[in-house]
Amino acid sequence: MIAALHMAARLHAAALADVQSALDPAADQAQAIHGIWHLMLWICVPMYLLVMLALGFGIWRARRLRMARDVATASEGNLYTGLGVWIIVVMLGLTVLTAASFLVDRKLIPAQDAQLDIRITAKQWWWQVEYLNDDPSQQFMTANELHLPLAQKTHIELRSDDVIHSFWVPNLSGKRDMIPGRVNQIELTPRRAGKFRGTCAEFCGLQHAKMSLLVYVDAEKDFNAWRSGQLGVAPAPSGDLLEHGKRYFETTTCAMCHTINGTTAHSLAGPDLTHLASRSTIAAGALPLNAGSLAAWLSDPQRQKPGTNMPTIDIEPSDLNALVAYLLSLK
Ligand code: CUA
Repeated sequence: MIAALHMAARLHAAALADVQSALDPAADQAQAIHGIWHLMLWICVPMYLLVMLALGFGIWRARRLRMARDVATASEGNLYTGLGVWIIVVMLGLTVLTAASFLVDRKLIPAQDAQLDIRITAKQWWWQVEYLNDDPSQQFMTANELHLPLAQKTHIELRSDDVIHSFWVPNLSGKRDMIPGRVNQIELTPRRAGKFRGTCAEFCGLQHAKMSLLVYVDAEKDFNAWRSGQLGVAPAPSGDLLEHGKRYFETTTCAMCHTINGTTAHSLAGPDLTHLASRSTIAAGALPLNAGSLAAWLSDPQRQKPGTNMPTIDIEPSDLNALVAYLLSLK
């Protein structure tokens, strides 16, 4: 029975590997949680089976006594011994589980000795990601997709700008609430390179289901390459079409909410788009990043994600075409 459950869990984890599964840990913190998950499974399943066995025995015994019409002759002695043993087994099991969950909880407390500092601010319904550094020239911002260096401890400061959200990347760690006016913390030490999906784990309004984030765990060399790319300003537009797109972005409502470093757009109400084309999704994982989905999103965001703060703008097809081309050039 346990083997079957375990098999089912493994198959499920395999199907979701590198996507989103707490049963396929890829960081120290998720590994610790995975360990206690197994301990609970191995303690609770035998106990459940014993309870079912005792219940079955009780039903069988009651029937037999009723048929014998002689309840008074039944011996209670063995039952009392059995009950005593059972109480000891339950107490032992609960003691082990309590101690184990206390120890795992200790392991998840941030030790403040991380090599990388990130601040993630949850918004309705996307994630603002800031890479912090004592040297301001080494700081940068992105959104909805973040990269972490392999085998290094990253400290993440978790905030919220509006309502309560919850940060959860199951392959890397457990859930941690993001509460307005409060700073929560989490540490991640990834042990396997890959792409992991995270999600908001606290109902936060209309588009709670479309508030996901992608975490890329990179080897140090790849991480440094990505990081130096993000530190630069946006590439200058080459050609009339891209010039047109940039001009449209800077002179219309786009610039009132977004930042593109290297242009005149410097607003933080919406995601930083400086290196938008280096990401693989838009609208917090709601759509893949390509010309078609970008055009659909820009011309009618409310249709793609009803309730989003991105307004519907009246945009001419030629402007839309130029804007899409320009945004896709922001590598
Ligand atoms: Cu944010 Cu649910």
